[in-house]
Amino acid sequence: MSVDTYRPGLEGVPAAKSSISYIDGRQGILEYRGIRLEELATQSTFLETAYLLIWGQLPTKEELKSFQHDIRYHRRIKYRIRDMMKCFPESGHPMDALQASAAALGLFYSRRALDDPIYIRNAAIRLLAKIPTMVAAFQLIRQGNDPVQPCDDMDYAANFLYMLTEREPDELAARVFDVCLLLHAEHSMNASTFSAMVTASTLTDPYAVIASAVGTLGGPLHGGANEEVLTMLEEIGSVENVRPYLEKKLENKSKIMGFGHRVYKVKDPRATILQNLAEQLFEKFGRDVYYDIAIELEQAVEEKLGAKGIYPNVDFYSGLVYRKLGIPTDMFTSIFAIARVAGWLAHWKEQLGENRIFRPAQLYVGMHDRPYIPPKERT
Ligand code: SDX
Repeated sequence: MSVDTYRPGLEGVPAAKSSISYIDGRQGILEYRGIRLEELATQSTFLETAYLLIWGQLPTKEELKSFQHDIRYHRRIKYRIRDMMKCFPESGHPMDALQASAAALGLFYSRRALDDPIYIRNAAIRLLAKIPTMVAAFQLIRQGNDPVQPCDDMDYAANFLYMLTEREPDELAARVFDVCLLLHAEHSMNASTFSAMVTASTLTDPYAVIASAVGTLGGPLHGGANEEVLTMLEEIGSVENVRPYLEKKLENKSKIMGFGHRVYKVKDPRATILQNLAEQLFEKFGRDVYYDIAIELEQAVEEKLGAKGIYPNVDFYSGLVYRKLGIPTDMFTSIFAIARVAGWLAHWKEQLGENRIFRPAQLYVGMHDRPYIPPKERT
């Protein structure tokens, strides 16, 4: 392998063939299984979309009913998982709690039959059903409360908000949250999906696949940026401070959180929809002070960095939506994870179809033939 073929961050290097999602980063187009995101966001639900992503087509009425039923049935988590979570430090980050809990599922469902479609379906259902329960459980546990059991009468998004707040959610809030999940469900070869695929390629169990992806999603350059955005908006504090803040950041060569993307060179279509969802919530529940700061920042970044193709990405407006829904900032990335489980599972299933272990090459730049120096001779 030559230095010429080396691309840091594997930029532009195809790592797999996939029919799950398509991005046109110049025109700001995103499709799941060939269907435009905007169509799904207005007409579908997260669960129906998850089915589409994992199994390749929209479910029939019967398939959807049975899928929703199975998800409801598997929402509860074992008391031992809850007890394990009670041993986690309350000060720990929810993404660390989620990664550990997702991996722990593998202890309980250890049978591995990767060539059995029923095993694949059951594992996918378990993960989609239990991850939200685990996220909500950790939130209650770290506040010193007992987790709330899932509510069988509520659909996916409403049930999550209920488990988190112990109150029946407002209808608009539940629909907006469901659309948020749908928007975050899948995004081609992003870092966490790649991580999931590398793990999957060893033919390990799906719980390890999801746990490794959760760990990867948490970083501030990836899903963790949604938390950093809110912290940044708070730090900016006022519309007047936006431009001086930006100048200082750019002078220091710091990245502006929630902006830029490896593939999109225009505004991320998900950011546009999320901004619209935020506005719907503001109309009903009151405007957020940080929204004006966000709008001014988007404008200022466009003026300074638009020529470089740096625009808001998915993480820029999502936090404002979650904040309005009453979700604490340090849970934002866990919400992203709940949604992305669908995409990770779709890639896991696709990967198993034509698996070859990921084992890229490296360009060795170290030394050769060095003598070993015994400790007492080292200076
Ligand atoms: C997600 O891949 C996916 O699909 C991810 C995701 C998904 O759904 O899975 O969309 C979710 O991870 C969204 C991204 C969240 N991260 C952030 O918001 C963090 C801030 N953004 C960046 O650090 C950055 O834009 C990345 C990590 C998103 C992309 O990194 P790249 O492609 O490696 O780009 P780069 O860092 O090499 O930047 C290229 C140029 C540089 O300038 P030059 O040195 O060429 O002059 O653009 C500049 C960068 O300095 N740049 C930024 C910037 N992002 C890029 N400058 C200031 N602020 C930024 N945010």
